[in-house]
Amino acid sequence: MPIHLDTELQKHKISITDLPNLLIGTDTVVPTLNGHKRYVNFDNAASTPTFQPIADAVISFLRWYSNVHRGTGFKSQLSSWAFERSRDIVAEFVGADLNKQVVIFSMNATEAINKLSRRFPLKQGNIILTTLMEHHSNELPWRRAGKVEHVGLDDDGTISKYDFLSKLAVFGSRIKLVAISGASNVTGYINDLDFFAEKAHDVGAKILIDAAQLAPHRPIDMKPHDDKRRIDYLVFSAHKMYAPFGVGILVGDKETFEQGDPETVGGGVVDMVTLEDAYWTDLPEKEEAGTPDIVGVVALGKAIRLFQSLGWEAMIQHEAKLTAYALQQLKQIPEVTLYGDINPANAAQRLGVISFNFGDLPHALVAAILSYEGAIGVRAGCFCAQPYVKSILRVSDKEGEAVVRQILERDRSNLPGAVRISFGLYNSKDEIDRLIEMLHKIASGDYSREYVLNKEKGEYVPKGFQVEFGEYFGL
Ligand SMILES: Cc1ncc(COP(=O)(O)O)c(C=O)c1O
Repeated sequence: MPIHLDTELQKHKISITDLPNLLIGTDTVVPTLNGHKRYVNFDNAASTPTFQPIADAVISFLRWYSNVHRGTGFKSQLSSWAFERSRDIVAEFVGADLNKQVVIFSMNATEAINKLSRRFPLKQGNIILTTLMEHHSNELPWRRAGKVEHVGLDDDGTISKYDFLSKLAVFGSRIKLVAISGASNVTGYINDLDFFAEKAHDVGAKILIDAAQLAPHRPIDMKPHDDKRRIDYLVFSAHKMYAPFGVGILVGDKETFEQGDPETVGGGVVDMVTLEDAYWTDLPEKEEAGTPDIVGVVALGKAIRLFQSLGWEAMIQHEAKLTAYALQQLKQIPEVTLYGDINPANAAQRLGVISFNFGDLPHALVAAILSYEGAIGVRAGCFCAQPYVKSILRVSDKEGEAVVRQILERDRSNLPGAVRISFGLYNSKDEIDRLIEMLHKIASGDYSREYVLNKEKGEYVPKGFQVEFGEYFGL
């Protein structure tokens, strides 16, 4: 029986309201200090769970699964077809032109940026212009590649367009690449990509958009080659798009990857090997050494099909409603300090990623109470964006240096940071109410006082609370 990746979605139009019921693990209960409770996942900016149609597609694909490209058997041919079909789906999803651009699959967004950082042509004196808003994955690879300059922030934590233009004026054509996030994983700000792209191209630079956060939440159009607002390189991750089976995506000019040697060498990247030479094969295989994550790629194709079936308007509206509601509720708790744009009326212009602190309580303790007493999964700390978090928290250089000294002594108890909640397509107002109720409890001191700080990890755990994870999932 032939499989069609899109059958189910085409047969029954799935709507946003179906999603909570289609979520894998929607009614999972987890242990807390007060017995088992239904889990609430507000950590979608890190990774999203998956939905039944995607999991079903993976299971049905596994019947046909085999290695891709050079296998002659039917299963290998079908797997190659599904793998390449997903590549086409990705290209269409971001408006890439496969005549000029290539979709390369990697492990995750971090690996994709690292690959670009090793393949992007740079000479002595060239500059990579990035910003203070970046995730470490769009910062550290560039430090290895060459000289990095940073665009500063405005007081509200957005990227300063004034500073961006000033840096373009000062460094001009020395800037070869502008590397900037599509949206922040800390404040949920969405960057004005048309503006940054147009100005970058004016000085002859290319632009990379780290769309790890943007791609699951807003349509992206890389635009034609002759458009100054075009995106030259785009990176995102399937595990943040309801396809938690691996796969990072790098889309970029073919030209960049046609010249020179592949970033990783080995099987799959060559047409001919002699004892003296290797003759590289064509793109995209040239940049996908070894066996790729075939199942992960097919799952991503299916996830994009799900997005297309839901429609952006419905997804954006749902997230905006949740974000506005959460901001309204959080603002009523005096102990809560919110970062970024806290106006509920602007919820549709940002992502549903909200960072906050709670009175004098350490962020890690608040996150622990939410987890161990409320069964609510959030994230605490710097979210792999330390320069940005320090900046919006207004951590002084002196305070920053003191923290570095403590960390060198293996003490992470004073790491600056915040608590972050981030919404997925399946989250509901009721779940936000559960969070708000827990925060009110914390405000009134109604929580266990028995948390023990693990200084080395900077984490709080309730005294004597032990869970045998093997009882919940056997391996
Ligand atoms: C803005 C941003 N860029 C890059 C990454 C890295 O993504 P990955 O973990 O898939 O490598 C993340 C992950 O949270 C992110 O939020």
